[in-house]
Amino acid sequence: MALPVIFAALFLLFALYCATDPLKHSSVSKYPDFEAYKVDLPPWSALPKERDGENLLQKSQVKFLNQVQGPESIAFDPLGRGPYTGIADGRVIFWNGQSWTDFAYTSSNRSVCGPKPLLSSNWKYEHVCGRPLGLRFNKRTGELYIADAYFGLMKVGPEGGLATSVATEAEGVPFRFTNDLDIDNEGNVYFTDTSAKHQRRNYIQVFYSGEDSGRVLKYNPITNKTTVLVQNLQFPNGLSMSKDNSFFVFCEGVLGRLRRYWLKGEKAGTSDVFAILPGSPDNVRTNEKGEFWVAIHSRRTMYAHVLASYQGLRKFLLKLPIPPKIHSIINNGDRLFGMAMKYSPEGKLLQVLEDSEGKVVKAVSEIDEKDGKLWLGSVLMPFIAVYQLE
Ligand SMILES: *[C@@H]1O[C@H](CO)[C@@H](O)[C@H](O)[C@H]1NC(C)=O
Ligand SMILES: *[C@@H]1O[C@H](CO)[C@@H](O)[C@H](O)[C@H]1NC(C)=O
Repeated sequence: MALPVIFAALFLLFALYCATDPLKHSSVSKYPDFEAYKVDLPPWSALPKERDGENLLQKSQVKFLNQVQGPESIAFDPLGRGPYTGIADGRVIFWNGQSWTDFAYTSSNRSVCGPKPLLSSNWKYEHVCGRPLGLRFNKRTGELYIADAYFGLMKVGPEGGLATSVATEAEGVPFRFTNDLDIDNEGNVYFTDTSAKHQRRNYIQVFYSGEDSGRVLKYNPITNKTTVLVQNLQFPNGLSMSKDNSFFVFCEGVLGRLRRYWLKGEKAGTSDVFAILPGSPDNVRTNEKGEFWVAIHSRRTMYAHVLASYQGLRKFLLKLPIPPKIHSIINNGDRLFGMAMKYSPEGKLLQVLEDSEGKVVKAVSEIDEKDGKLWLGSVLMPFIAVYQLE
């Protein structure tokens, strides 16, 4: 008699513990109002099956180890100098061929910023120091445009220094998580704001909730006006112009897709699916041939697919007292790994490079092709990896 009662009591206690998460272990314990929304994921069978059996990215050279913290985006100036990259303490730094020097910053208040030995120690003051994510030079004017996660779209002249604000809102809705940009031949800037609700510090919430306040925007430097091109997006991220400027592609982080937005021709002003990706994309960059390199954070697991597909189950599982680290392992597999995928200007998959063992390139946020090399930046790594193309 006593044993079943004890079991029942233990079970009840366990259920209560799971339901209330008293020690605040769950991935979303910081967000009491966490909601899960519907995600129309591409079917599992539509994900590309191509793999890089040789794990070629493992041949990459690790450069600038511990000199660059979280270099998400990489840019070379119109004279081909660089790279320039935006790092975790809010600075944009410049490699002059011999050493790194400070080039620009997005926050005028740097009293609590400055280099820190650990990538994670910058997290607390990101909203004060700024976090430059997407970087692009306007090749004609030499100005560097910066998508800063906290301060919106900014720019700085070729001499660097404190960047000035270009746009912080559109149609009355402020940006909360400006992420990436590109510039057309006329100087118009196309950019993404990942969320109008949550900041980058709460990206877990944006990603897992599937909330759709993300937007793709256009800034016209002549009229100084910002307009909304696409809205109701779930974690829009990287963006890149096609070589002929007839369209741009942008990454849909939650759905794992590349979408194409037409700027010219009879489809101008409309968008369609350009490619279905095997995981969650970060940035996309165009090479000289007009091909697109897309950076992917790991391959989507069946668990992640199910989690995304059923919002009720997603909310239930995320609220269980499973620490984020463990949850990430269940969700992404036991190790992080980076993937680089190349698509033709028509959206055909041309090449897959990966380090599926996460030995060298554990994560990749952006791939820039220059002079036969790929420069791989990552928001999660303290280095830039360089891969020599054959
Ligand atoms: C700079 O930021 C710090 C940390 O948030 C704050 O305490 C300080 O008041 C700020 N200084 C100015 C001049 O805004
Ligand atoms: C451009 O517009 C923004 C607000 O949308 C404003 O703060 C800024 O001063 C304007 N810049 C110029 C050069 O007119």
